[in-house]
Amino acid sequence: MSKGTIVITGASAGLGAEMARQFAALGYDLGLCARREEKLEALREEITAAHPERRVELRSLDVTDHEAVHTVVRDLAAAFGTLDRVVVNAGLGKGVALGKGRPDANRETAMTNFVGALSQAEAALEVFRAQEHGHLVMVSSMSALRGMRKAMTVYAATKAGVASLAEGLRSERVPGLDVSVIYPGYIRSEMNEHVAQNTPFMVDTETGTRAMVRAIEKRKAKAYVPAWPWVPIGFLLKRAPLSVVRRMT
Ligand SMILES: NC(=O)c1ccc[n+]([C@@H]2O[C@H](COP(=O)([O-])OP(=O)(O)OC[C@H]3O[C@@H](n4cnc5c(N)ncnc54)[C@H](OP(=O)(O)O)[C@@H]3O)[C@@H](O)[C@H]2O)c1
Repeated sequence: MSKGTIVITGASAGLGAEMARQFAALGYDLGLCARREEKLEALREEITAAHPERRVELRSLDVTDHEAVHTVVRDLAAAFGTLDRVVVNAGLGKGVALGKGRPDANRETAMTNFVGALSQAEAALEVFRAQEHGHLVMVSSMSALRGMRKAMTVYAATKAGVASLAEGLRSERVPGLDVSVIYPGYIRSEMNEHVAQNTPFMVDTETGTRAMVRAIEKRKAKAYVPAWPWVPIGFLLKRAPLSVVRRMT
């Protein structure tokens, strides 16, 4: 018996791959998307070995290809008959301080994290409106709470954009639609494998993802994860003057 169907983008690595493992363990069937097909294949083998009753569909997808996003989401909805949840998770953090000669890196971050997320939300909403139910999950970041310096400037702006998109949808009160925004703190993944082992507050992938999955299962409108220390840090970040924020990040 399936608990429902979940599409996860950026499922080939890090938080997306771990969400896939944990949602499969909870009894969900999965549509997993990313560009690296061999990683998705390996993940499917691992999941179906642990949970043979689970159905796992794979789709090669670049989220910056707007048409492909729509095609893949429609195709997965048709394959499963219904999509209960779409987790907009694919993302990258390639930013460089503005005006330092890497507009390409900043644009790629913006196109993937914001425009790509918009395409995914648009495609998901088409399905959710038609079936009159669905849960849209946007993976934002604690960095979305304030403007961030240098390499983080564009990344933080994209994550604020994603959170705003989600709030707009929540405000619309689309019949049958739940919207969650997840704000992860530091969770070990491919994205930050170059970051020092002893980075303060960094948690391992399984622990961090477990906090995400718990919040998603509760359909929280927003969640800073893991709650400790990110709930109090979020409280301070939102209220502190920029001179303090600058030193916190
Ligand atoms: N880890 C953290 O501490 C942290 C904190 C805050 C927010 N987040 C957010 O959490 C999400 C997952 O990040 P992560 O830490 O798990 O990073 P990761 O380990 O680098 O994984 C990123 C995933 O996104 C996919 N992806 C990147 N560009 C893509 C594209 N153009 N089309 C399709 N898929 C693409 C990658 O797959 P392919 O390369 O195979 O396409 C990969 O599966 C991101 O949105 C990130 O911003 C992470």
